[in-house]
Amino acid sequence: MSSSIDVRLRDLAGTAPETAVRGDAAECGEVLGRGDGSEISADDFKFEISNLKLNPRQPAGERTFYLETFGCQMNDHDSEKVAGVLLGRGYQRMESADAAKLILYNTCSIREKAAQKVFSRLGTFRKTPDHGKIIGVLGCVAQQEGEEIFERAPWVSLVCGSASYSKLPELITEIEEGNRRVMGLDKDTDATFETEFTRRDNPYRAYLTIIEGCDKACSYCVVPFTRGPERSRASASVLEEVRRLVDAGYTEVQLLGQTVNSYADPSPRKMTFAGLLVAVAGVPGIRRVRFMTSHPRDFGRDIVDAMDAAPAICNHVHLPVQSGSTRILREMRRTYTREEYLEKIEMIRSARRPICITSDIIVGFPGETEADLAETISLLDAAQYDGIFAFQYSPRPNTDARHMPDVISEAEKGRRLAVVLERQREIQVRKHEALVGETFEVLVDGGSRKPGQWSGRSSGNRIVNFYSPRTDLLGQYVQVRVLRAVPNSLVGEHVI
Ligand code: 5AD
Ligand code: SF4
Repeated sequence: MSSSIDVRLRDLAGTAPETAVRGDAAECGEVLGRGDGSEISADDFKFEISNLKLNPRQPAGERTFYLETFGCQMNDHDSEKVAGVLLGRGYQRMESADAAKLILYNTCSIREKAAQKVFSRLGTFRKTPDHGKIIGVLGCVAQQEGEEIFERAPWVSLVCGSASYSKLPELITEIEEGNRRVMGLDKDTDATFETEFTRRDNPYRAYLTIIEGCDKACSYCVVPFTRGPERSRASASVLEEVRRLVDAGYTEVQLLGQTVNSYADPSPRKMTFAGLLVAVAGVPGIRRVRFMTSHPRDFGRDIVDAMDAAPAICNHVHLPVQSGSTRILREMRRTYTREEYLEKIEMIRSARRPICITSDIIVGFPGETEADLAETISLLDAAQYDGIFAFQYSPRPNTDARHMPDVISEAEKGRRLAVVLERQREIQVRKHEALVGETFEVLVDGGSRKPGQWSGRSSGNRIVNFYSPRTDLLGQYVQVRVLRAVPNSLVGEHVI
């Protein structure tokens, strides 16, 4: 296995700092704060720069790329690794597609709208056949559509699915050698995507994939088809990377997986997920450990015990329920009932410190009745979530739900979504108002253009905007007293 080096600096070899262009950030995960942290001087990277594999076949001006990411945090992090692979080969990252030779789209297919975005981007090249660019489609749409992408958009040269990223360096070599139809679409790969370089965008929170793929087979979900079966990374490799991240200056790491708590250590050590959380929290220099997304079926007491034992494990659990109706949950093949799910919530609420719980909800699943919707609303009341992402059901290729009867109209799905969001808004307003006067530790990850205004995240992952007379807070942990509450964030003042 190759060693991984964290390329955190914005400018590895004289490259202009790029703007990370995000798709709809709320597509399938939280909205990330991207601060612009201090840069690291090139001297700190002598080793990395001496390791760059510059390709003699291509003139330097040709080695420029533009990478746009859609979808979830897994995709964001995959893009960080893709960028790392390219920077490691001497490519420069550009701010716009216009300025780059190689244009890559890392795509999301979780819902149809997300999948359509890439085709609208590709469509812009239809009018200019002699654009002279090399265009690549990566990620879940690539995996799902495969060769058909070449048919729909013949000007595309690279199609690489999310289960085949470990092949990416070879595929890039083929592109550099002039091959204009390059494909990586293996599904049965047992490799995880570990790279020599990872070019991390967020200077305060380092993402780390510990399990790729999904074996759960929810009837509405395309992920098992696009990301392949579950593959976990050996615990020693995870811990080694965490130690390197501390050396690179990180204090917060987020362990990622579609079902992160289904982690199964492939090494003889056989560390459990809870054991891994405690071990990561115990790495000297680590102050915050996050994990996302948890599947309710595999969420056991041992994870709550780990949170009790190690305060560095953040008090936030993202535990998607999808529906409050046991009947719909069965149709969705979620493997738990409403009651079993609520027992997990009780278990988390019994932890020694308050834990923020967030969830995903789907409305308008085929056959969902008014009574089923009412059960989802009453589950929101019972669970008292700190935040949710709610989505209209979107039929996806290959999934069983696509063929289910009693399809709900788009207009009705929209109405149901509004009902769910309104109830959750009321819950959040009440919960946030109860926090006025409390003090939280916040990791500062952004400042507003107005002087004195900062923002960051609490351990529970709440967005906290606050006032401070200080001018040097980026990347610092500070105490903030809450003055006001709004539905999606807290407003406070720095306690100095
Ligand atoms: N339609 C709507 N939402 C979906 N999700 C997954 N598949 C679909 C679909 N076909 C949602 C689920 C999941 C989140 C990442 O996306 O709520 O937890
Ligand atoms: Fe999709 Fe279900 Fe796997 Fe989540 S657990 S990625 S919803 S199949």
